[in-house]
Amino acid sequence: MDTDFTILAIETSCDETAAAVIRGGRTIISNVVASQIDEHRRYGGIVPEVASRQHILTINAVLHDALRPLPGGWNDIHAVAATYGPGLAGALMTGLNVAKAIAWIRELPFIGVNHIEAHIYANWLLTDAQPDAPEPQFPVVALVVSGGHTLLALLEGHGRYRMLGQTRDDAAGEAFDKVARLLGLGFPGGPAIQKAAENAPGGVTLPRAWLRDSYDFSFSGLKTAVLHQIREYRAREAALQPGAGKGAGKRGAPATTDATPLPPAIVARLARAFQESVVDVLVTKTVEAARAFGATEVLLAGGVAANLRLREELHRRSPVPVRVPPIALCTDNAAMIGAAAFYRFDAGKQDGWDLDVQPNLPLQAG
Ligand code: KG4
Ligand code: ZN
Repeated sequence: MDTDFTILAIETSCDETAAAVIRGGRTIISNVVASQIDEHRRYGGIVPEVASRQHILTINAVLHDALRPLPGGWNDIHAVAATYGPGLAGALMTGLNVAKAIAWIRELPFIGVNHIEAHIYANWLLTDAQPDAPEPQFPVVALVVSGGHTLLALLEGHGRYRMLGQTRDDAAGEAFDKVARLLGLGFPGGPAIQKAAENAPGGVTLPRAWLRDSYDFSFSGLKTAVLHQIREYRAREAALQPGAGKGAGKRGAPATTDATPLPPAIVARLARAFQESVVDVLVTKTVEAARAFGATEVLLAGGVAANLRLREELHRRSPVPVRVPPIALCTDNAAMIGAAAFYRFDAGKQDGWDLDVQPNLPLQAG
């Protein structure tokens, strides 16, 4: 297809309001992301209603910024794309309807994009650091790890996926966020745990859910294991308090409660043990899949791909080259939506005005 083909892409599936202009599927003309993280931080997590309202308030300014580098403005756009799932229904609705409205008014093709597929396509985007990077060659194995998803997929061609495994409970990013909360670290939890784990002493090993003979993942048991470690620590501390064992409990609150901050050394040690466990399972299964399916490359995708230990271990243990987008393209953005849209359109696919949001859209061929 024409390498000048220019797509305006919109992403509003969660807490980022984003728009980008992508040329030829790989060149980023603009990539604007307005994060709502400060709006959600005070609640300790993402509040869907707040997200929906923020998207409506922000989308026009974000679009304006995304179009700014185009000499011909709207006239330089050849197609419009938006995420239609998976994600928060109310949040998805804003981006999808804005994209449909623009495409309809300007009589342009409209392309609906699967958000998980788009995370994988972030690996097709060219960056300043590697402006001549060749396209990934199929078959590739992709590990998608984000706040909402954890899955391993085999890509045999554009739009041809085979799901190898996925999480049976929490997504990897969700586990990072929940464990960060248990440890009294901030939101979002991934970066907070990574930071706390830096230079932390070893000494604690947490379990790994291998789920033998399966590429599936499970992280909820690990979260419970962290909780047990915290409870054991608090029980030990309580037993060391003066008066412990002499009916101390009857005199009121125990000396350390769940509200008492944990000492930084304990937080660091548990953060490290948790991170090592998650990384070990993710890397082991990805490397096994790459071998089993003869992948030419491993592609990393999603917000947790920002994790430095994950990158390091995957590079160290993978039998084939590992491709990881720069951090700004790992977390939610619209550039990846534009890349995925290009290859979808190139394969002769586009969508009608009846395309609705699909909050639980799986990764599937089509
Ligand atoms: O892909 P993303 O931006 O949004 C979703 O579609 O979910 O991923 C966000 C997730 C959050 O759970 C966040 O804690 C996690 O990515 N994350 C990290 C790191 N940076 C972000 N997890 C581990 N280590 C990091 N450095
Ligand atoms: Zn995402």
